[in-house]
Amino acid sequence: MKVLYASSEAVPFCKTGGLADVAGSLPPALAEEGVEIAAVLPLYQTVREKFGQELEFLCYDYVDLAWRHDYCGVFRLLRGGVSWYFLDNERYFRRPELYGYPDDGERFGFFARAVVQMLPHLNFWPDVIHCNDWQTALIPIYLKDDGVRRDRLRSIRTVLTIHNIEYQGRFGKETLGDLFGLDQGWADDGTILMDGSVNLLKAAILCADAVTTVSPTYASELKLSYYAHGMESVMERCGGKLSGVLNGIDTARYNPAADPQLVAPYTAGDLSGKAADKAYLQKVMGLQETPDVPVIGMVSRLVAHKGLDLVCEVFHDIMELPVQVAVLGKGDRKYEEFFRWAVRQYPGRLAVRLDYSAELATAIYGGADLFLMPSRSEPCGLSQMIAMRYGAVPIVRETGGLRDTVHPYEAQRDAGNGFTFADYNSGDMLYVIRQAAELWRDHPDAFGRLRRRGMEEDFSWNRSAGQYLRVYGEITGAELPQKPQAAPEISENPAAAEETPPAEPAPRARPHPHTQKKGTAKKAEPGGTSSHGPSGKPKRSRNV
Ligand code: GLC
Repeated sequence: MKVLYASSEAVPFCKTGGLADVAGSLPPALAEEGVEIAAVLPLYQTVREKFGQELEFLCYDYVDLAWRHDYCGVFRLLRGGVSWYFLDNERYFRRPELYGYPDDGERFGFFARAVVQMLPHLNFWPDVIHCNDWQTALIPIYLKDDGVRRDRLRSIRTVLTIHNIEYQGRFGKETLGDLFGLDQGWADDGTILMDGSVNLLKAAILCADAVTTVSPTYASELKLSYYAHGMESVMERCGGKLSGVLNGIDTARYNPAADPQLVAPYTAGDLSGKAADKAYLQKVMGLQETPDVPVIGMVSRLVAHKGLDLVCEVFHDIMELPVQVAVLGKGDRKYEEFFRWAVRQYPGRLAVRLDYSAELATAIYGGADLFLMPSRSEPCGLSQMIAMRYGAVPIVRETGGLRDTVHPYEAQRDAGNGFTFADYNSGDMLYVIRQAAELWRDHPDAFGRLRRRGMEEDFSWNRSAGQYLRVYGEITGAELPQKPQAAPEISENPAAAEETPPAEPAPRARPHPHTQKKGTAKKAEPGGTSSHGPSGKPKRSRNV
């Protein structure tokens, strides 16, 4: 089974959010399951800066996006049993940030186009292309569009994973032909337009062979207007091809027994180190250094869907409890201003850093007793799993992946791994925060067992990788691979690749003058040089 994983970010190469953690961990986990897996990403400036020395230039070609005809270089790096391919175009990707530019539609249109067009040059012909979010949503569409004329593309199956349906890739309808190079048929048959605009995620949901979301609960929530950001009827149309696969976390990276960023390591069996980590957190964030109150941690983007309104509404009630609160994150101005103001009201008991910092995040996971995550919606959420692994007992709203990972404490049965509330309501949240603080203070043994149950949960990727394998198996009809003893090595020798497509054009083996790595020059072949202008290609019709 050969899978090409397409993403717009992946740890350790480039990251803005949870997608990068998933895209960095899932491909190696699939490799361990015996899948031959490659991943493909844009060659951003940050990747070039951090990994330039390890990148191997393979070849280049020109990619057609509507009337554009642009250079695309292919670089590769081997890591974790995965071939990581990077597609290079400096005009689109040599920029300080990953996203947030007015031409993002064109940039990721180019990327998706390039993934499909450069396939023959990758020495890796996939059975499945696994796409993620709107940035790679055009891939299933281009595969169908080009598949009309290229039989070989029709053999490829596609999976689309929705990490957050809020971001849909919406563009004016004039972009259909002029930017994305798709013909009117895509609009006329109701696939790509939504509310009068091009909606890339919608089209991909309809075109992909399987659609997954990052937790089972989120998969059902997406059929409700409260969660679906206008896409509920599209999700309804998915029928059986929609499923939810819970994300995992990198359990080697997030391991309190061996995390070099912790002051003192600890395990579920021996929590003695955690006291030192709590003292360190209090010191580094300027909280009173006392073991006698529980610390509630929050590591979050400060945006509405993370449930910040609930926190603001009852903040004074929370601070009436014998607790300390440590907040790390940045985001919307109104929440930042709230915390700037609140921190002056509760010196020594509330600490806030309006920032992102991996070190401080670890200090909070390691030092906190409780971890608050009252999201209005949460497709999966990784922080609650990390918090549990570090023995910070989560307090969450029952939504999406929070509902699937945090099970409410039951005193009678001495069961559960956290505290939960169902309705998006600050009173209910306050109630469980109070309950948590009381359990910590009055029943330390029961709290300790609750904490340990969370720490012992299996949040590794192995479980989820197996579920993705089943999805791949269902859509390809192929037998699932046998799990090998050691991670498979994907051939580094292009000549040894078992499948070299017969009737595809040869790649040009000369890098762009600006991107050529020293000592990697390959024999030049004549090739197109224009970067703009009509390509003279025939009009495309859609395979329906
Ligand atoms: C998005 C979601 C988050 C999820 C992550 C990884 O960032 O908002 O809930 O954990 O993607 O799938």
